[in-house]
Formats: sequence, structure tokens, C-alpha cells
Amino acid sequence: MEPKIITIVGGGSTYTPGVVKAILSKKDTFHVKEIRAYDIDYQRQEDVSIIVRKVIENDCPECKFITTTDPETAFKDSDFIFAQIRVGKYKMREMDEKISLKYGAVGQETCGCGGLTYGLRTIYPMVEILDYVAKYANPNHWILNYSNPAAIVALALKKIRPNARIINICDMPVAIVNSFADILNCNPKDIKPFYFGLNHFGWFTDVWVNGESRFKELLDHAMKSGYLCETPDEQHWEPSWVETYKNVKPMINRFPDYLPNTYLEYYLLSQDIVDHSNKNYTRANEVIDGREKTLFDAINQYKETGKYDDKTFVVGAHATFIVDLAESLCKENGGRYLLIVENNGAVANLPDDAMVEIPCYVSPKGIEKTSVGHIPTFYKGLIEQQYASEKCIVEGAIEHSYTKVLQGFALNKTIKSSTQAKEILDEMIEANKEYWPELR
Ligand code: NAD
Ligand code: G6P
Ligand code: MN
Repeated sequence: MEPKIITIVGGGSTYTPGVVKAILSKKDTFHVKEIRAYDIDYQRQEDVSIIVRKVIENDCPECKFITTTDPETAFKDSDFIFAQIRVGKYKMREMDEKISLKYGAVGQETCGCGGLTYGLRTIYPMVEILDYVAKYANPNHWILNYSNPAAIVALALKKIRPNARIINICDMPVAIVNSFADILNCNPKDIKPFYFGLNHFGWFTDVWVNGESRFKELLDHAMKSGYLCETPDEQHWEPSWVETYKNVKPMINRFPDYLPNTYLEYYLLSQDIVDHSNKNYTRANEVIDGREKTLFDAINQYKETGKYDDKTFVVGAHATFIVDLAESLCKENGGRYLLIVENNGAVANLPDDAMVEIPCYVSPKGIEKTSVGHIPTFYKGLIEQQYASEKCIVEGAIEHSYTKVLQGFALNKTIKSSTQAKEILDEMIEANKEYWPELR
């Protein structure tokens, strides 16, 4: 294999040190000669890169590393582009959550009004990145995109740049499978999940370990304890994540057909989530005081003392998955992953243009989808409502249509009435002036 060049977009992300560590952990099989960090926030990226440089110095000093805010330098001949941008950063995530909660609605970064709002911020910055990549990168490049809200980003980019070589991904099912492995006392690599849905809106229909279904054991466990397990994924241990893992319990007791993605709590338990939220201290605050602070404390400590603590970031499901996928895209029998892809009949009774999350095989040829078949009415109904909401947002952004965006808000299952939808949308427009396409 030719040694690769990887560009990390959102080089200043809290996940960058972990992603770099995961890349270098594969140096014997996945040859990477250069890693480039690209961000629009020069200072944040330089700060985070202090830790990244220490990781490289320790794990693979021969790997070249550069930081840049210049697109040509970032993408020239790049083979893999890992995107993890947060448009508006945590400040705007906090606004999404708090404005929604003020009106009694869910403001989660990817679900409810929070997700719709963040989607409208992220579509066009991602289009810009796709255009830079098309202009400068190796023609056989792959963009692996984590940037949220992945469901809306995937749908929008498919419409606006249908030929882009982008694969949209999510680490949540991977983290859930890690919990399944812990519950079943097996290796996550031996698990074969069967799954359908939209991103952050899907269900496991079966879970095999070495060819044998272990669904019933997982169902029994989830009925009693949700997805709580002895060793949760490193990313999901904070109090709000523990609550999220517990919230699987009421969902599975009510709807025991399939094991839900944790994010379904925002739709199936939306009122409970709002009632139990602290309107003054949301997940954005928890991340600012947790993941971000821990990393920046280490950066500041290094600036002051020259000492570095490698326990200030995690590799986790997030970094492991994106690097596994990149390596698999270089191999003939790359493997099977849950990916967000254009439906086109894979789920027989969902619209062709929906971006569904389903099992796929990967190789240098790209993605081969598996066929899911028909899904039952309850799941189809939920998914179609969410898909319609997200599609209205995407069309609203493209057409600069206030009405379409309002339809997207009003259609969302987390919203009670079009009055509530309009109140939230109007305040979101004010808060997002700097970021949103103009709506007329
Ligand atoms: P973060 O704020 O720490 O990092 C995001 C970085 O993106 C910042 O440095 C910011 O300056 C940069 N950025 C913003 N707009 C940019 C642009 N147009 N071009 C280049 N860089 C830009 O955020 P984080 O918590 O580390 O998360 C990063 C992203 O990854 C978020 O979108 C988050 O939701 C996503 N994420 C997705 C998954 C998934 O399962 N899909 C999992 C984890 C994180
Ligand atoms: C999960 C999801 C991601 C989300 C991430 C971090 O793994 O799949 O989409 O961004 O968690 O969320 P957090 O609230 O910790 O920033
Ligand atoms: Mn996700």
C-alpha cells in the first residue's frame, strides 16, 4: 500500500489527539506518511496541536505533521479527509440547547430543534470543504465525515454535491456494540449487528456473535438496565450519558421488537427529557467543563511546565472507528460497517433519497450496501416523519425558504405545535445570523 496523507478537518477538535493516536497505532498495517490538521480557528488548532505533536513524537516520529488554515496546503494530494467540524463551536451548541429548552423543547446537538438549527449552520461550510477537496485532493480520496448533525449533513450534501466521495459516519452504534460486547462478555470484533434507520434514529434488529443470535440476552438486559454495563465506552461515562444509557429501559419495555439507538430518547421520551433538563446547565456546559477543559488544562500545563499528560484525551470508539474504516477502504475485503448511505431500495419501504444507516461492506471500490427489506409500520412512520423534517430543513436552506424551514421544525416529533415551532425558529434566526443562509 502506498503511504497515505490524511487531513483532519477541524484540527482544533477535542477528538484530534485521539484520532492521531489511533492512526499511529496502526502504523504496521496502515502506512500514513503525513497528517495535516486544518481548521479556521488558527489559535485553537495550534493549542490542540501541542498535544498532537507529543503523540507523534512518542508513537511515530517519522510521520510528518503540519497545521494549516490554507485549503490548498491542507488538501493537496490528500488521500483521506477526516471531517469533524463544529460550526459555531460550543457557544452555539449551548444556544441551541438553551433556546429550545426555554420554549419547552429538546435542543440536543443532533436531535429536535438543536439538531435542525445546527444543521442549518453546517450545510454550507461542509459544501465549501467538499469543493476544496474536489479541487486539490487525490482524485481517489475519501472524505469520512463525523461532523454533526450527520443525518442532515448527509442529506444536504447528497443533494448539493451528489458526486462527492464522502461517507458519513457515526460512532454511537459502535459504542453501543462495545456495550453489547461487555454485556455478552465477548470481543466486539466478533459481533455482527443488523440495523436500520436514519442517523441517531435507528434500531438493532438482531445481534450475532460468531454467527449465533444473542439478541434475547441483550433484550433481557436492556429491559432491566438499559445499556448500562460494567465497562462503558470511554466516551460515555459522564452523568448525562449514564442517564441516556438508562433511558433505553423504558423505550425497550414499551417497544420490545428491536434494540433502540440511545438517541431515540429525544423523540420517544421527549417530554421526560425536557422535564429533567437543567435549563441553565446543559450538555454543552458539561462538555466545556469536561472533555474540553481536561484537554486545555493539559495544553496549558505543557505551555507552563513542558510536561505532558497523555491521559487527557481518549481514543475510544470515535477514533478507532474512523481509522478502521479508512484502513478497510484500502483492502479488498475491507469489512462490514454501519454507514449512512443513500437508501435506493435498501430499506424497501423507505424513500429512495433518504440517507439511511445500515450495514455495508467496504473495499477500494467503495460501499456495497446490504439489503434490509421491509420495516414495520411503527418504525417506518417514525422514520418518515424525521426524514420529512430533515428534508424540509435541507430544502429550506437551498431555497432560502422560511416556510420550508418552519415546516421542518413543525414536523419534528419533538415539537408540540406550529406555534412552538415558530417561536423557537424566530429566536434561532436571531441567534444564528452569522451562520445561517438567509431565509425569506
Ligand atoms: P470542537 O468544537 O472541539 O472542534 C470543532 C473544530 O471545528 C473547532 O476547532 C472549530 O474551529 C472547527 N471548525 C468549525 N468550522 C470549521 C470549518 N468551516 N472548517 C474547518 N474547521 C472548522 O468540537 P468537538 O466536540 O470535538 O466535535 C467536533 C465535531 O465532531 C462536532 O460536529 C461533533 O458533533 C462531531 N462528532 C460526531 C460524532 C458522530 O458520531 N458523528 C461523534 C463525535 C463527535
Ligand atoms: C456520540 C454520538 C455523536 C456525538 C458524540 C459526542 O458518540 O454518536 O454524534 O457527537 O457522542 O457527544 P457529546 O455530547 O459528548 O459532545
Ligand atoms: Mn453520532
